[in-house]
Amino acid sequence: MTKADQYIAVLREIQVRLEKGGELFADLGNAAAVLKKRLGFDWVGFYFVNGKTLILGPFQGTPACVFIQVGKGVCGTCAVTRKTIVASDVRQFDGYIACDPESRSEIVVPVFGPEENLQAVLDVDSNQLNAFDETDKQYLEQIAGLLKSCWKG
Ligand code: SME
Repeated sequence: MTKADQYIAVLREIQVRLEKGGELFADLGNAAAVLKKRLGFDWVGFYFVNGKTLILGPFQGTPACVFIQVGKGVCGTCAVTRKTIVASDVRQFDGYIACDPESRSEIVVPVFGPEENLQAVLDVDSNQLNAFDETDKQYLEQIAGLLKSCWKG
């Protein structure tokens, strides 16, 4: 199975779970669980945008920082640029926030609500260098699009 095939299966599974769901924290927690298990990532989770602060939401993996200032770290930078950020080597990312010392690469994707307002960022971490490429970006952005419906319009 290629990585794209795995993502297609993940998209389907998240879609089915969303259809049966309807509770923000439960739905996002399940999406994180599906991604971590099926693609073997080391940490998958959401940070909610709350004014100038990001607050840890549903996640799967080791314990993580609860608060991140918008503009700081990979997550906070994504919240400012509102574009996906790939940190192929987290040690080279200026201002990187090390929640887990074993983490080596990271991708952070903005998650917009139904009115295109930024609700959260989806953070995926790997203990391998260079774990994320265009395929991850493309499919994680599609997953973020599916999750839009978790926020009622
Ligand atoms: N490394 C992130 C912080 C969150 S943890 O990786 C879970 C960052 O620099 O924003």
